[in-house]
Amino acid sequence: MITLKDDFYILQLNKKAWDNAAKTYDKEFHGQIYSLFNDFCDQLPKGAYILDLGTGTGLPYAKLLIEKGFKVLGIDISTEMINIARKNVPEARFKEISMTDINYKKKFDGIFSSYSMLQLNPHLFKETAIKIVQALIKGGIFYLCLNGPWVDGIDLDEDVIIDFKGNKMYSRPYSRQEILNIFIPLGMKLLKFEVEIVTSESWGKENMNTYVFKLV
Ligand SMILES: C[S@@+](CC[C@H](N)C(=O)[O-])C[C@H]1O[C@@H](n2cnc3c(N)ncnc32)[C@H](O)[C@@H]1O
Repeated sequence: MITLKDDFYILQLNKKAWDNAAKTYDKEFHGQIYSLFNDFCDQLPKGAYILDLGTGTGLPYAKLLIEKGFKVLGIDISTEMINIARKNVPEARFKEISMTDINYKKKFDGIFSSYSMLQLNPHLFKETAIKIVQALIKGGIFYLCLNGPWVDGIDLDEDVIIDFKGNKMYSRPYSRQEILNIFIPLGMKLLKFEVEIVTSESWGKENMNTYVFKLV
């Protein structure tokens, strides 16, 4: 059973992990542009206002979004990540806050989440999905990139605590069906979906799933 205690534990665990790992992450991850990033940008009006959820160091995405002429608010639960992002991308605005606590109404043309929502358990994920939809204007675009399970339909009830360079954090794959079950009833239309198998030294082999949704 999911309890509020679990939610608090997961958020604190991840905040601590990313505060510890921030400097290493900034040094080692110079960013790779994954599929559908340009598709997301192409859907947005000139000068669009974008909320980047779990912005990390601001690289590569907040910076690239700024370079495309968008206005960017990056948020992150980690104090250290936010400090680094402010230095890396001075043209964007950054705020230290958990994405589970956002409370914006019809404010953003686009919301972007690259490898951040997979750090939420299903309860927090569903609550945050509602807040994302509330924060978008009608017609707004949502980009979501996270890992899918290797075999669709496997038992996903097991919580996943992973180790990133000695830092334990919660991270859970979400299947395409789970994502659609969450966002479609909230009024989102799936514009694009792509699967890529990517391999990196730090994370190993990953089944990367990217979605672009529109609020209709
Ligand atoms: C794997 S990094 C991804 C960073 C960046 N989006 C990218 O694609 O390079 C995950 C980021 O999500 C942030 N994060 C994790 N849980 C969060 C939460 N509840 N609210 C806001 N940020 C969170 C972490 O602090 C970390 O900076």
